[in-house]
Amino acid sequence: MHRARCDTGGRSIRADQQLIRPMNAHFLSRVREAYEMPVTVSALSGPRPLPLVGNLPEFVRGNVSHRVLESWADTYGLTYRFRLPDLDAVATADPAIIDVVLRRRPDDFRRSAVMATVIDEIAPHGVFTAEGERWRRLRKVATRSLNAAYLRQYFTTITKVTGRLVRQWESAATTAGPIDVLDLMMRYTLDVTAALAMGHDLNSLESTGDGLHSRIPTLFPAFGRRLGAPVPYWRYVKLPQDRRLDETVREIEAVVLQSYAKARDRMATGAEPANFLEALVQPLDDEPQITEKEVFGNVLTMLFAGEDTTSAAAAWALHYLAANPDIAAKVRAEADEVLGDQQLPTDPATIGRLKYAEATVNEALRLRPVAPYQVFEPTRDLTLTTRDGTKLFLPAGLTIFALLSYGALRDTERFPDPEAFRPQRWLDGKLPPEALPFAPFGNGPRFCPGRNLALIEATIATSVLARGFDLEEDHSGGPVRERMAFGVFPENLRLRARARL
Ligand code: HEM
Repeated sequence: MHRARCDTGGRSIRADQQLIRPMNAHFLSRVREAYEMPVTVSALSGPRPLPLVGNLPEFVRGNVSHRVLESWADTYGLTYRFRLPDLDAVATADPAIIDVVLRRRPDDFRRSAVMATVIDEIAPHGVFTAEGERWRRLRKVATRSLNAAYLRQYFTTITKVTGRLVRQWESAATTAGPIDVLDLMMRYTLDVTAALAMGHDLNSLESTGDGLHSRIPTLFPAFGRRLGAPVPYWRYVKLPQDRRLDETVREIEAVVLQSYAKARDRMATGAEPANFLEALVQPLDDEPQITEKEVFGNVLTMLFAGEDTTSAAAAWALHYLAANPDIAAKVRAEADEVLGDQQLPTDPATIGRLKYAEATVNEALRLRPVAPYQVFEPTRDLTLTTRDGTKLFLPAGLTIFALLSYGALRDTERFPDPEAFRPQRWLDGKLPPEALPFAPFGNGPRFCPGRNLALIEATIATSVLARGFDLEEDHSGGPVRERMAFGVFPENLRLRARARL
């Protein structure tokens, strides 16, 4: 990164230092700081933009924008600028900057306003896009309904859906063709998330044809399409796909409000909450009762944030197990020991003992991070200090891409032999303090509140499937590759499975 210095009226800083030589070192360094003007965004280096489109063509090529951003950081330095058609952006993999951006929320940094508006047009009042006081309140609600005590209550739902997943793999294993892993894992996480968030058993794993189970998965791609659209046409004219989207959202709202009424009745009997909705009924300390709009917004956010992300993580884990039979054998041996003659965990504590399976999921998330970057903006003009001590000026509203997983393949001190799939590193690794960023679930006050739920779901699925089936790679549809669509998903991920029992 270049250093910029203020105009000192033709005198060099060295000349000024000589003037003040008799003064003490501390005072001298204060004077030097005062002279050192922060670097502005325009002084940063970055890829050369094309007229009108800027760096967009390269950014979107191959649907791997996260890898493009990371390779630009390799070329132009940890913090660089680039241009999209209507905005100048900064991307950073600098741990010092990312740490401040993530921690000083919601006061000094917010999520990208453009992104928040597009999400809010589909699913308003959710914690992911909320800011300021509204966020503080919704955050309390979200973290409470996902805390450890409640997760234990949700255990029965999770294992019931996992049982269905195993049956689906059994039936898919007997058919001639390979298994579409992402499809099955999406149905699995959709059923878990809908059961917990909406109090509604969608049973998409065993359902066919049209229904809410087939429409909810269209929400995430619809959002991705809108975010990538050159103009927000839907604000002026609704295409059939936009009308379908509105209908789906209304349908979910009707189901949620119906389930919420039932949740209130059940909680009035003094029962323990068995899903998010029931957890929401109990008022927060010193807070007014959550409104129905907030309940709905919260549920949609959970569907948005929790379903596709977790399915991609579990699918990638299975992909690596198929490619590494020796590691699959270790996952299986652990499951044999922990589960004994039970097919599924029988109590929440059992899941905590599936340590190697969980390490497998963490290692898959390292190599294939589902949310490799997040986009933020400062709420006011700010000057931050980079890792090399340079001061960087960030104007209010600047678009900042924080590369949260840059260190996954580059931090060789923390992850030796970084390209290798080696779950064991999660069981004995120590993190050096000056590490490059690796924060697959974010950090600071807006850290992903669904992390534990995601790990539980993905760990159980990985463990029981590796135990129940011999997995084999299938490249008949082409090589497995990443596709970025707000999150990173596997494409062409097909496996052959043979039941072992
Ligand atoms: C492997 C799965 C998942 C990954 C990789 C993931 C990743 C992330 C990341 C990177 C963020 C942004 C954090 C930040 O800004 O510091 C986030 C936020 C969030 N996630 Fe997750 N997530 C996953 C699963 C889930 C699940 C299962 C749920 C809930 C059911 C969930 C709910 C949320 C919510 C509500 C937020 C917004 C938090 C806030 O703004 O305060 N996530 N997630």
